[in-house]
Amino acid sequence: MRILVTGVRGQLGRACRDAFSSAGHPTAGVDLPEGDLAEPDTAPRLIAEYRPDRVVHCAAYTAVDRAEEERDLALAANTTATENLAAACAETGCAITYLSTDYVFPGSAADGYGEADPRRPVNWYGETKAGGEVAVEVLSVPWQIVRTSWLFGHGPVNFVRTIRRLLAERPTVAVVDDQRGCPTYAPDLAGLLVRLAEAGARGVFHGTNAGVCTWFAFAREIARLGGADPERICPCTTRDYPTPARRPACSILRDTRLAALGVGRLRDWRQALAEYLDWLDRNEETAIP
Ligand SMILES: NC(=O)c1ccc[n+]([C@@H]2O[C@H](COP(=O)([O-])OP(=O)(O)OC[C@H]3O[C@@H](n4cnc5c(N)ncnc54)[C@H](OP(=O)(O)O)[C@@H]3O)[C@@H](O)[C@H]2O)c1
Repeated sequence: MRILVTGVRGQLGRACRDAFSSAGHPTAGVDLPEGDLAEPDTAPRLIAEYRPDRVVHCAAYTAVDRAEEERDLALAANTTATENLAAACAETGCAITYLSTDYVFPGSAADGYGEADPRRPVNWYGETKAGGEVAVEVLSVPWQIVRTSWLFGHGPVNFVRTIRRLLAERPTVAVVDDQRGCPTYAPDLAGLLVRLAEAGARGVFHGTNAGVCTWFAFAREIARLGGADPERICPCTTRDYPTPARRPACSILRDTRLAALGVGRLRDWRQALAEYLDWLDRNEETAIP
């Protein structure tokens, strides 16, 4: 399969480029320097240039809080860009994998969300990503929507790096303990995307590492594995830590369809975190672009 990865400078995009190449698929990656996908000419030009069999669409506006202010930018990058790419794929018969998010769900379900549950986002980022899903799910070419959550991976900004930095700067760090979800290691998810593409799977999938935690428990594990006293991470509530964008209280994604397909589920997030921290310790200097 010839693969074109969008958003290749992002944490998932770069992991996808590496995973598809390592699996023997000729893979190219593009990002904003190669063209803004929200512009109507960009997607047809890139598809004509790279002639992919599948586009793995990781490019997105991912600043959840800033999106509440920069509504037009987020809408263009997440909904309009995906509409443009979907149309170009439909025109050429190219398959598409669209990366989406737990934030398309409201977060009020106690035990999380299955693939077929109705979308009802509670913030603008979620609205704009849901708009991308709508553009993809009507396609007649093979399509996948893969929702994931709480991503960490090789890149300059993520929750793991933020907690490590705060632990280096402050005696204690308060982290919200009333939002639950599934941390996901970008290289693990990229491997899953390869398997889904190779299986020719179609439809909506949930792809996260196994296990559920709160941001507080996630942060404590980052401290513990990093050799810091976990007690320095203190629990707080969402109300104590107001943000411009509302967050779902429960954004657990249940991966029922993966299990049914027999495409291996991902390992526990703690194992993945240990591997990532080990990698960070060995590569921190060179990892930051
Ligand atoms: N991060 C998470 O926790 C999370 C959770 C659930 C789902 N997801 C989804 O997973 C995917 C990958 O996320 P990520 O964390 O790897 O994202 P990321 O690190 O923010 O990377 C996204 C890349 O897309 C580029 N981009 C933005 N707008 C573009 C446009 N209009 N045209 C072309 N490229 C554009 C960005 O460039 P600039 O940086 O220069 O803007 C960036 O390099 C996204 O679809 C995201 O919605 C992420």
